[in-house]
Amino acid sequence: MPTDSSASSTTPAVPAAAWSGRFNEPVAERVKRFTASVGFDQRLARVDIDGSLAHARMLCHVGVLSGPDLADIERGLGQIRQDIDGGRFVWSLDLEDVHLNIERRLTELVGDAGKRLHTGRSRNDQVATDLRLYLRDAIDQIRVLVRELRRALIDLAEVHADTVMPGFTHLQVAQPVTFGHHLMAYAEMLERDDGRLADARKRTNWLPLGSAALAGTSYPIDREHVARALGFDGICANSLDAVSDRDFAIEFCAAAALVMTHLSRLSEELILWMTPRFGFIDIADRFCTGSSIMPQKKNPDVPELVRGKTGRVNGHLIALLTLMKSQPLAYNKDNQEDKEPVFDTVDTLVDSLAIYAEMMRGVTVDPVAMRAAAMQGFATATDLADYLVKKGLPFREAHEAVARCVRHAAEHGVDLSQIDLEVLRRFSPLIDTDVFGVLTLEGSIAARNHAGGTAPAQVRAAIQAARAALETA
Ligand code: ARG
Repeated sequence: MPTDSSASSTTPAVPAAAWSGRFNEPVAERVKRFTASVGFDQRLARVDIDGSLAHARMLCHVGVLSGPDLADIERGLGQIRQDIDGGRFVWSLDLEDVHLNIERRLTELVGDAGKRLHTGRSRNDQVATDLRLYLRDAIDQIRVLVRELRRALIDLAEVHADTVMPGFTHLQVAQPVTFGHHLMAYAEMLERDDGRLADARKRTNWLPLGSAALAGTSYPIDREHVARALGFDGICANSLDAVSDRDFAIEFCAAAALVMTHLSRLSEELILWMTPRFGFIDIADRFCTGSSIMPQKKNPDVPELVRGKTGRVNGHLIALLTLMKSQPLAYNKDNQEDKEPVFDTVDTLVDSLAIYAEMMRGVTVDPVAMRAAAMQGFATATDLADYLVKKGLPFREAHEAVARCVRHAAEHGVDLSQIDLEVLRRFSPLIDTDVFGVLTLEGSIAARNHAGGTAPAQVRAAIQAARAALETA
């Protein structure tokens, strides 16, 4: 959308600021540029018009605005909406922000009725309402994308409910797990994210309008009427709180920071798994880029960029918390700084989630490489200890016996399952032929057959529950 900061050359006079009556000199150019928000709050134009229409209809309903005035306002705002949608609206820096730009244009279009729109309202309750309307829609859009990514993860997990990979702690091979189980851990994280976003939406969806500048208004307004018209759950209870509260934006940014943190963790794993040293997965070429100097390179740019973008989203959360921490009641101009962090958080989440949902469907898996890696770190050592415990040995003694056994295997360069029975029995006479059932990767995985465990049957149950959760809310 074009921003016209030199309207003076094409229009008869620089439009006087809406509040200029009590000033002796015009605001300095540099200050005008510094204080204006129209460059970024244009994004609120559509919700600003929705809010103005609901306000005007309420004013008419309670008898403050005449029917003909309301008709003029509706016509004018309809025209402005079309001009904005068509990219024809001329934004003026002299008019400071989205609210004053629209109001001035309305007055140009419909005359005095336009000047009556702001009756019983302030930009303070107006902007708080706009931001809530904007964020409510943004949360709905983001939740759809979170769900698409959850679905992609669950689908891939289902294909790999039996695929064995090494599970890690400290990034050292710990115990075998299934790849499906590993993916479902991320599906769980995103299910919680979805819940957090839904929860943040609940506290976003309350109407500040009617609080006016800070204390309410002397007109006989009907705030519930406006709340219903705009789909809010109700009205903000205290006018001072209503115009200054930005908790809802902070809550959203906190939920967003966790979404990005989860994507960043997954990114880190995808990047590791794609290095030839792991070779667990490949990411479809359309999500990767090459190197301009090294012809052999295929780089996981998307996960790297998502990991990097987590920084800006975390930063926006801190920016908003810091913005609010020392503000006295009620509205302060500081609050104008709330918009860019919120907008950029929304953009970053929308882009990152959309591309991840597609990319996870372009991940191919190498079960042979995963299995080979699981065979390398004595991943079934715990199973051998548990085996001895079940034969009566106290766990601490079993742990010690198996540790010595692992040392022997490491020295001879073999896996525990490759050691002869008579050698195994040197570490504990309790060991018998049935030990080989527990020393295999499949035996280890199948044994963890309880809710939350990695046994394929449990992974399938988790997938079923996750799919059911996707259908609700
Ligand atoms: N552009 C302002 C903002 O974003 C609108 C509210 C201005 N209110 C005021 N009293 N100056 O916060």
